[in-house]
Amino acid sequence: MNKAALSVRHLSKTYRRGELATTALSDVSLDVFEGEFFGLLGPNGAGKSTLISALGSLIRPDAGTIEILGKDAAIDWRFCKMAVGIVPQEITVDPFFTVSEILHQQSGYYGLRHNERWLSTLIERLGLADKAHARLSRLSGGMKRRVLIAQALVHKPPVIVLDEPTAGVDIELRHRIWDFMRELHAQGHTIILTTHYLEEAQALCRRIALLNNGKVAAVDETEALLKRFSGSRLQFRVIRGELPANTPYVFEHIKENLWCTSYADAGALSDVLFTLQQAGLDMEIVHVGQPNLEEVFLRLTAQ
Ligand SMILES: Nc1ncnc2c1ncn2[C@@H]1O[C@H](COP(=O)(O)OP(=O)(O)O)[C@@H](O)[C@H]1O
Ligand SMILES: [Mg+2]
Repeated sequence: MNKAALSVRHLSKTYRRGELATTALSDVSLDVFEGEFFGLLGPNGAGKSTLISALGSLIRPDAGTIEILGKDAAIDWRFCKMAVGIVPQEITVDPFFTVSEILHQQSGYYGLRHNERWLSTLIERLGLADKAHARLSRLSGGMKRRVLIAQALVHKPPVIVLDEPTAGVDIELRHRIWDFMRELHAQGHTIILTTHYLEEAQALCRRIALLNNGKVAAVDETEALLKRFSGSRLQFRVIRGELPANTPYVFEHIKENLWCTSYADAGALSDVLFTLQQAGLDMEIVHVGQPNLEEVFLRLTAQ
């Protein structure tokens, strides 16, 4: 139980171009367990794609180790190549090939000869059947995205890493991709999903790592992060009077006369409101919110 599908230790990477040095990863350590649906979140430039490139041996880290299903990626690279499928953020294939050619070439790269059935399944599940013989250059952005996903899965890897697979796709395709990821997960694949759509991570990922400035800002179960950093939030405007001191509540000043506080449940909310009323405070409620990842994200990346 709880065997690591991916184990990253002290990974660091600085890109250097002449005088310019950009540290993309700085001492990153994290574990993703077999069978998990794991979210890798972070603002633009946080280092997510760099971490994923390192998993796929597309870049060489300056320090640290990566193990995939217990094998060191720098040593057992052949095993690791078969174990991981990466859906890149950017299109990396020659646009003059057809969809079918791309998938067959990719199968060839993995030394797979009798792969027709799985390729047909991928083509069918991703809605690529009418486009199988179309050149990539003729496809829409959404269709290209589906090809990238199919291409990463030709060898049916146990560990699947998707770098922003739903960025810029329409709602229908987004839901198709979600369904497909859920199906793969249900079949036992480990899924690592990078996204900047927080509601997507909240809906799909049971555990999340939040990267910020190349460092791990938090790793935890999605629910726990929501509880710890979000809670339900009450935002209110003070019209007259002073906030009471010596209450069990923490009132955060947002700006001017706008304040907010967290509460655990409906009972706690009415306690907060009662306390404010007892203090003689004249206020109006601006917003009563559900916990959401957006807020967790803002708080953890604010520092
Ligand atoms: N090939 C590269 N050369 C130089 N800098 C890079 C390169 N790739 C990424 N970076 C820089 O490294 C940082 C992390 O980038 P990236 O891993 O793409 O983040 P994310 O995927 O989270 O947006 C950014 O500051 C980015 O500009
Ligand atoms: Mg990226």
